[in-house]
Amino acid sequence: MNASKKKLKLKETRSKRQTAIFYKDFAANGGELYLTEIRRFAVGLYDLMVDNIIQTIAFDEQDHLLDLGSGVANIEERILDMFPNINITCVDNTPEMIQAGQERLTYLTKKPHFICQDILTLKPEGKFKTIISNLTIHNLSIDEKKCLLKKIKSWLTPNGIFIWGDFMEFENKKHGDEIMQKRKQRILESNGVDPHFVEEILTKESQDARLTVEQTKQLLTEIDFQNIEVIWHQDFLAILKATL
Ligand SMILES: C[S@@+](CC[C@H](N)C(=O)[O-])C[C@H]1O[C@@H](n2cnc3c(N)ncnc32)[C@H](O)[C@@H]1O
Repeated sequence: MNASKKKLKLKETRSKRQTAIFYKDFAANGGELYLTEIRRFAVGLYDLMVDNIIQTIAFDEQDHLLDLGSGVANIEERILDMFPNINITCVDNTPEMIQAGQERLTYLTKKPHFICQDILTLKPEGKFKTIISNLTIHNLSIDEKKCLLKKIKSWLTPNGIFIWGDFMEFENKKHGDEIMQKRKQRILESNGVDPHFVEEILTKESQDARLTVEQTKQLLTEIDFQNIEVIWHQDFLAILKATL
């Protein structure tokens, strides 16, 4: 059977509380610890991924951007440095991440509106021309992903776009295992790494409900998104874009 035709069935993810506890420790040092570790674990791909997300946004003065799982607000920092008048709403359910983001952006005149809340219970005011979510939705179960995608559709303006960057499962398991083994080696050889910490993160990763790129496209299609495009894909990371 074609992978894209298979019914999406994935293991259940950990609880929201466990996820928030996991991310809490990364907020240390104004979020710098998070950035060091995500760069380490994405083995040189993280900044490239953020560049690709930012290049995909069609900025204009009226833009109102919503970031679901905004972490330490480093993406917002990049955006607001270039376009200081954009309205941005940042949502994250880890209070320490929200605080790190607020601290990171204290120097700005126009700051994002920060909301500390689960993206699944969010009821934002107004609509957004751009909704982004990077490296966050893999934390949600398949039913939660569906529920969130339906809400995202209702939060977009008619000309709006949704940009979804995330960790991906490989289509070919053997090939994927080889790449992930090489990645683990690179992580273990990096400066100042604690092997126990690496095991802890990789164990957390094994509990994620990751989709393949095809399954991600299938899910967006099922929720009736249009113009679904893979705008960047490298190994275990990809960015997709879709419209109403
Ligand atoms: C790996 S970080 C990604 C941060 C940022 N988007 C980036 O690209 O670096 C995932 C973030 O999603 C947040 N998160 C995970 N599940 C969430 C949920 N259900 N609701 C809100 N935030 C969530 C975590 O607290 C964490 O800050």
